Amino acid sequence: MADNIIEVKDLEYRYNGFKAVAGISFFVRSGEIFSFLGPNGAGKSTVINILTTLLPVQAGCAMVAGFDVSSRPEDVRRSIGIVFQDETLDRDLTVWETLELHGRLYSMPKAERRSSIDEMITLVELDDKRDVRTRNLSGGMKRRLEVARGLMTRPKVLFLDEPTIGLDTQTRMRLWQYIKTVNEAGTTIFLTTHYMDEADQVSDYINIMDHGKIIASGTSEALKNDLGRDVIYLETSDNVDAAKLIGKMEHVKDISPSSKGLSVTITTDGTRCLPVIMSALNENGVTISEVNLKKPSLDDVFIHYTGRDLRETGAEKFRIARANIGGR
Ligand SMILES: Nc1ncnc2c1ncn2[C@@H]1O[C@H](COP(=O)(O)OP(=O)(O)OP(=O)(O)O)[C@@H](O)[C@H]1O
Ligand SMILES: [Mg+2]
Repeated sequence: MADNIIEVKDLEYRYNGFKAVAGISFFVRSGEIFSFLGPNGAGKSTVINILTTLLPVQAGCAMVAGFDVSSRPEDVRRSIGIVFQDETLDRDLTVWETLELHGRLYSMPKAERRSSIDEMITLVELDDKRDVRTRNLSGGMKRRLEVARGLMTRPKVLFLDEPTIGLDTQTRMRLWQYIKTVNEAGTTIFLTTHYMDEADQVSDYINIMDHGKIIASGTSEALKNDLGRDVIYLETSDNVDAAKLIGKMEHVKDISPSSKGLSVTITTDGTRCLPVIMSALNENGVTISEVNLKKPSLDDVFIHYTGRDLRETGAEKFRIARANIGGR
């Protein structure tokens, strides 16, 4: 399909026999923010490294920006920007020199290079650090510089491997603002992150990976809805009657008393059930004084599919589950 900027089919990767990527297929639409989530060791960086030509394709195939990663690595490299998981700055270069070197490596003509450097330094708010060596930057400033470097060549696709790891909340938010601005200007973003709230807010589409496989995919909304665990809290004039009425309705999994009223677990999208419940209660003379809908978070989705919290690394318990929820 012409509007897919990345297409991956049956991709596998082994490190000395250890299968880190176990045959995955997916695509990324041009212009979207696409996220790869997964616990430590899931295989996310390995996938990024293959797509950015740093690791060879051993089995399967991958196209990036219209070029086959195996046979046209140079063209792929010219189309992309990368921010690696681990810091890759030369500590002896200044902020300006870092970008200047990068522009030269990419053979950017001088005038374009210079104006791009100025633009990028301003974008990531490092104007007053222009002539400071990277060794003397704070962690957040280094990360911002790496993002600026990744963006400098105006890539069609920007790969961001854990772009905000270890940054304070304010810096993370600001970094997302830059990334969104860049995305709105037309760059497709492919990212991995361990921050579920960030992935939830920015992603157009999410793949959850574990043990080298994609175990769930969809929009954040679809993934959350598909858990079928929306909870509606109701305070009514007659909770006993309300429970009887609601208990007969479709998609109701569980009703239990909550601190003031009822807590109703729904097996489908709660936003669709809520009006039905409200009008049924109304018609039967039960007045609703308060109503609240709680959807599962992306964290809940993550734990459901991987069987563990991102922080519980050694945990062996995981569910074998497979879901493709976005309908693509
Ligand atoms: N150079 C390597 N040699 C051998 N095994 C490796 C190498 N790099 C990664 N692996 C293994 O491949 C698997 C996937 O690693 P990868 O770095 O792709 O995971 P990840 O999803 O990026 O994890 P994280 O969230 O910790 O960054 C892990 O089991 C890891 O130990
Ligand atoms: Mg990684």
